[in-house]
Amino acid sequence: MKRTLSGIQPSGKLHIGNYFGMMQPMLHHMAATELYVFIVDLHALTSVQDRERLRQGTLEAAADFLALGLDPNRCIFWVQSDVPEVCELSWLLSTITPMGLLERCHAYKDKVAKNIPASHGLFAYPVLMAADILLYQAEVVPVGKDQKQHVEVARDIALRFNNTFGDTFVVPEPEISESTAIVPGLDGQKMSKSYDNTIPIFLEEKPLRKKVMAIQTDATPVEEPKNPDTCNLYALLKLFASQEKMAEVHNLYVNGGAAYGYLKQDLFALINDHFAAARAKKKELLDNPDYLRQLLAQGAEKARAKATLTLDLVRDRMGLKY
Ligand code: TRP
Repeated sequence: MKRTLSGIQPSGKLHIGNYFGMMQPMLHHMAATELYVFIVDLHALTSVQDRERLRQGTLEAAADFLALGLDPNRCIFWVQSDVPEVCELSWLLSTITPMGLLERCHAYKDKVAKNIPASHGLFAYPVLMAADILLYQAEVVPVGKDQKQHVEVARDIALRFNNTFGDTFVVPEPEISESTAIVPGLDGQKMSKSYDNTIPIFLEEKPLRKKVMAIQTDATPVEEPKNPDTCNLYALLKLFASQEKMAEVHNLYVNGGAAYGYLKQDLFALINDHFAAARAKKKELLDNPDYLRQLLAQGAEKARAKATLTLDLVRDRMGLKY
């Protein structure tokens, strides 16, 4: 079993795009690999500087993932800052990381290009991420396209370290999931927080219905045929409806008779059912934050056991054991 590792941002409300793009692959990795998952609160500090927002965001992210099926007995799940060894490793790695490698990173370059002042933390972000990955000797790192460069930086750092101090780190591979379903948002563009076109998973029934009813459709009259392949409502239905149901809907599109209003009602009911149990579970978890903290503390303890082994070796290799 490959050792697989992934960091989750503690920001924002999970939406249907995240669910199919990130959550489902994660559950697949849980079944098929030795999985390490953590909430990256230290990374979040480079953009969130608000105590309550970070605290709440961390607990919510934990509740989201547990509610949707991440099982702490079948993976190691923790909060990044609960294993402070990662900061030490980050420093040690920074001493062998060329400036040029970091100056080429998009996340930093984009800010500078937009004239947004960048902190040292933002500049050093990829080194902390390399420490995340190398500390646990991860073999595979599933990430979105935007994070591929950061995993490549981690590879570079691992290779450089191994060359300088002797074989120490596993050199990780990024795994870019090209095949994940493209989930359209309310307006038909890709569903994304930055387009403000999302359907959040954990909405209560009423606001969820409102969102679904706001899906934009064209003005083709009910009785006229419609093209299912270009319709965002159709694409969303397909993610949740059974094959039989979709055969029926397809028939209505092609031969006429598809009424968008009714189909939206169907979609609402399907989404609502799909997430009802997770919604209840999330509420239960957030109502018992101490239980949540206890689960995370147990995860951190397991992660830390691995982390100290690596760090001990690194310290020795670098000459810190005198
Ligand atoms: N930078 C990643 C993101 O924004 C989050 C992250 C931090 C991460 N450390 C990681 C992802 C280690 C994978 C492995 O999504």
